[in-house]
Amino acid sequence: MNLSQIAGQLDTLLEWEKGTAEPLLEQPPDPKLGDAAFPCFTLSKSLRRAPQQIASELAQRFKLDGVEAAAEGAYLNFRLRRGSCAAGLFEQAELQPVDGEGRTIVIDLSSPNIAKPFGVGHLRSTVIGAALYRMYAAAGDHPVSVNHLGDWGTQFGKQITAYKRWGSEERLKASPIRESLDLYVRFHEEAENDPGLEVEARDWFRRLEGGDPEALRLWRYFVEVSLTEFNRMYERLGVSFDKVLGESFYNDKMGAVVEELRKKGLLEESEGAQVVRLEEEEMPPCLILKSDGTTIYPTRDLATALYRHDVLGADKLLYVVGAEQSLHFRQVFAVLRRMGRTWADTCTHIPFGLMKFEGKKMSTRRGKVVFLEEVLDEAVSRAAAIMENKNPQLKNRDAVAEAVGIGAIVFGDLKNNRIGEINFSLEEAVQFEGETGPYVQYTHARACSILRKAEAVASQIRANISFDDEAGSAYDWDDASWELLKRLGDHEAELRRGLHRHEPSVMARYALDLAKLFNRFYHSNKVLTDDVQAQKVRLELTRLTAVRLNWTLSLLGIGSPEEI
Ligand code: ARG
Repeated sequence: MNLSQIAGQLDTLLEWEKGTAEPLLEQPPDPKLGDAAFPCFTLSKSLRRAPQQIASELAQRFKLDGVEAAAEGAYLNFRLRRGSCAAGLFEQAELQPVDGEGRTIVIDLSSPNIAKPFGVGHLRSTVIGAALYRMYAAAGDHPVSVNHLGDWGTQFGKQITAYKRWGSEERLKASPIRESLDLYVRFHEEAENDPGLEVEARDWFRRLEGGDPEALRLWRYFVEVSLTEFNRMYERLGVSFDKVLGESFYNDKMGAVVEELRKKGLLEESEGAQVVRLEEEEMPPCLILKSDGTTIYPTRDLATALYRHDVLGADKLLYVVGAEQSLHFRQVFAVLRRMGRTWADTCTHIPFGLMKFEGKKMSTRRGKVVFLEEVLDEAVSRAAAIMENKNPQLKNRDAVAEAVGIGAIVFGDLKNNRIGEINFSLEEAVQFEGETGPYVQYTHARACSILRKAEAVASQIRANISFDDEAGSAYDWDDASWELLKRLGDHEAELRRGLHRHEPSVMARYALDLAKLFNRFYHSNKVLTDDVQAQKVRLELTRLTAVRLNWTLSLLGIGSPEEI
């Protein structure tokens, strides 16, 4: 028995199209009122009767095995007969989501800039994008992740100039981003008194664009050492990419875009530059060629979108990039539409807000930066310290601390609506209480430990502790066990809801709900008890909790150690 069946019966009674009633069903604020409620206010106009009257008429006509319907004011409340519905709910909780449509969904995520620190924005893009990737895959689509590295632009002229003058290969190898950043800062400091530096930098970039071997060699070297450093972070975050295609990959693909824009009469001159005007769309013009004829960021994104659609076969193009780039993406999508690419409607920018660390903004200017790797290390060492207190005997301590520390950061990000600003507190995020990753992981480990104990006891006394439907219908269903069972079966609906809104936070909130419900259940019910029939049900609830928490955390990219 589930809510769809209740909604189906309502559709029949009201002579509605199938599927109309389901989204109207509500969760009663107090579980004592029942398991679902159907508000009748909005029906009163079309049926020309008082909502109270409609509710009581529907209550009389509603007939479904295992479900009681009762009118309560303007609401029709449904109560599932717990014993007889349990088997169906257990089955639902076990199900894997059904196969989806297998659409190719190209997801642009992470996309940091070479020779610059991996910023918080890139961290957010990485964890949100990777969560969406796993969620699409779980729902039966075919996601393709692309890391659109910022590996081209005039800053590489500066980087080469600075490296030639003051750089050291040794330092660059040992700590590529820090050395690059120092060089970048020094370049800007010295350029204030020495205008020759800017000239030299422009010259190096020109040589790079022209394919000069020495410029190319140095550029490749910067890319390589930066990537090594980024990969170390990706590995810790459990993220990999189907494609790593930096902006430079499109260098030879932009000519065709510019040519097409020109042929279609879309290019116009503005102060020496070439732009596409977007007055009808009420946006500023999209810059295509700078006055010196070089291409820029939007031009590269046009070529990129064409490649993802035409070559990678994308049915949908998603861009997980900070909210500050909203205008950029609206412009790019508008230009694609102007070029006659109707599939521009399948392009979606998935923006997110700023994240501050303990109230501080991360900034790459003036060399004031918090390095992500340091934040990860700090989280792991704090997690280790807390665990040392909690469970000094723990095996695999380092691996578990790594999973908990990283999980704390990832969960601390993903539990929030992505668009809001986050004020991240490491102190809070690593706690085992409150709405944190460690709290969910710890609850999972607790469930695993109960299951281990049960196994040990069962094998000792050779008892059969495996669940059967009969135990489920005979069980004296208290509210805590019942609410947990119902919520365990919501995973597929939550996955769809999360994908519909492109919100991994839906899954994080689901994990928190399950963890809270399980802990309530655990505190009011003895799982390992002499009542063998009751124990079967409680162990099954415990097992399903472990399965679902593990599943949900893994969608978010967070590990589930069995012991903490
Ligand atoms: N590298 C860019 C930045 O750090 C983000 C790139 C996002 N992706 C894109 N296709 N424009 O701001």
